[in-house]
Amino acid sequence: MCGIVGAIADRDVVPVLIEGLKRLEYRGYDSAGIAVIDGRDVRRVRRTGRVAEMEAAAGQEGFNARLGVGHTRWATHGGVTEANAHPHISHGVALVHNGIIENHEEQRERLRQLGYEFESQTDTEVIAHLMHHYLKQGNDLLAALQRTVKELTGAYALAVVSRAEPERMVCARMGCPLLIGLGEGENFVASDVSAIIQATRQVIFLEEGDTAELTRTSVRVFDGDDQLVQREVHLSDVSLASLELGPYRHFMQKEIHEQPRAIADTIEATIDGGFLPTLFGANAEAVLKDVEGVQILACGTSYYAGMTARYWIEAIAGLPCSVEIASEYRYRAAYANPKHLIVTISQSGETLDTMEALKYAKSLGHQHTLSICNVPESAIPRASELVCYTRAGAEIGVASTKAFTTQLAALFQLTVVLGKLHGRISEEEEAGYLEELRFLPGSVQHALNLEPQIALWAERFAPKSDALFLGRGLHYPIALEGALKLKEISYIHAEAYPAGELKHGPLALVDADMPVVVIAPNDKLLEKVKSNMQEVRARGGELFVFTDQDSNFSESEGVHVIRTPRHAGVLSPIIHTIPVQLLAYHTALARGTDVDKPRNLAKSVTVE
Ligand code: AGP
Repeated sequence: MCGIVGAIADRDVVPVLIEGLKRLEYRGYDSAGIAVIDGRDVRRVRRTGRVAEMEAAAGQEGFNARLGVGHTRWATHGGVTEANAHPHISHGVALVHNGIIENHEEQRERLRQLGYEFESQTDTEVIAHLMHHYLKQGNDLLAALQRTVKELTGAYALAVVSRAEPERMVCARMGCPLLIGLGEGENFVASDVSAIIQATRQVIFLEEGDTAELTRTSVRVFDGDDQLVQREVHLSDVSLASLELGPYRHFMQKEIHEQPRAIADTIEATIDGGFLPTLFGANAEAVLKDVEGVQILACGTSYYAGMTARYWIEAIAGLPCSVEIASEYRYRAAYANPKHLIVTISQSGETLDTMEALKYAKSLGHQHTLSICNVPESAIPRASELVCYTRAGAEIGVASTKAFTTQLAALFQLTVVLGKLHGRISEEEEAGYLEELRFLPGSVQHALNLEPQIALWAERFAPKSDALFLGRGLHYPIALEGALKLKEISYIHAEAYPAGELKHGPLALVDADMPVVVIAPNDKLLEKVKSNMQEVRARGGELFVFTDQDSNFSESEGVHVIRTPRHAGVLSPIIHTIPVQLLAYHTALARGTDVDKPRNLAKSVTVE
């Protein structure tokens, strides 16, 4: 969703802002803009559409400055227009904003009475006018910001510059991530480390309620009580290579192929030291031993990871486990059992619904919380008692791939740790699970080798308008994930069902035009799945089956089969994710859609 970058330097910051905005494009946006302080003037360029169009406009106007802020906007309040794009300006104060100001209408009314006029429909413009209002009262830029944020209800990350104070930039954070990048004689602000990684790796993550002031050579951070504080400096491990496409056509393709490495990194500590509670934090052992059940909360693909984990946790750890879509949980009168561990799953760590569900769970009395997340220092892990960071590396494609399989790897480790602590797993079983994990990256690599065969299938999916995905047990969530991937990037309508449910309704959809993808590994449900497949064939439906090397399956008319490597036992859902990802990717490719930035979607969903 929206992205922020700002820079103060002894060189032209315009290329820094543009490059930063390009690196934020993956988050999803519909307009972009920059504002720079050029001498004693604020100059601004905004465009709907791509950053490249805004860059061209800035080039034509000859922008060159030592201080400026930039923004990519994903419309919430007000349509996709240039007037609604950021930065917003009030009498020489320019600012960019991520988040939503809930009391903007009330502030708008108040500011109107004070004589301010509004050019946009955004909630953000009230912040610009409030800043000016407090500057007019004699406050300097930092004090004006500190007064302003106290008037705001809602979520914000803000970066502000003013023509009256060309030697500094100020910023603030509440509910939306914001970090400061420390350079040599130059400093930066960004909502996401990828926006400034070309300039510096040293970062300070602002805490909730913080404000900060940056000059070229200094950074001062203040807490919510406006007291000067020291915040830790981190060395970011995001690499430039992870943000570049390399030899791949799309980030999604690159990220699908990075999965053996991403999974190997995520399970590294367990492979080296066994299933240890410390993977989830220093005091994890006491917490995990004490819990009597698990409640998982997540959205989208992360929710499907949670659904898979439910099968594992109940079967292996012997604990009751519920999984719920975060946006549903947060608004219902849920029954809370404080002895149940709340597990949130979020690749971005920023998803508003998941964050709010976590807060709601705490308000209901849940004391123990654990977050599985791919982005260090993001909001959800920061609000959780225990954390396990997946080590997928930056995921740029909007459609989640390596983040999903690494979430599964993390959840499997959690399952075994819970099982051990609750005395449900023998040493022999534990050794077996470790062995299966050891094989996992190699088996994922084998599944990736199926790409040419799957690309041929994709040609047949490309002209279709609907598809059905079936799976049973542990593989039902993978069918859901396959259908979601296909929908997201190829825009083909796809549904997933537990195969046993077919005859209770969806069978009516099946005809010769409806491709039916079946995830049918060689497990104890295979014979049941085969019967369900017969139901499809008898109605003329065409079957595309993903099974294992060692399952007894043969191709026949209307039944196409691709075999993944040997059956991967309990980790089979991870292996069977790869073919459905590749099928979606190649179908989208054949349809010519924007694979990495599908229409209407954003990478981090920070709105309701
Ligand atoms: C996945 O392909 C989607 N883009 C989407 O469903 C995503 O998983 C969901 O929005 C949750 O995001 P999170 O993992 O960052 O919380």
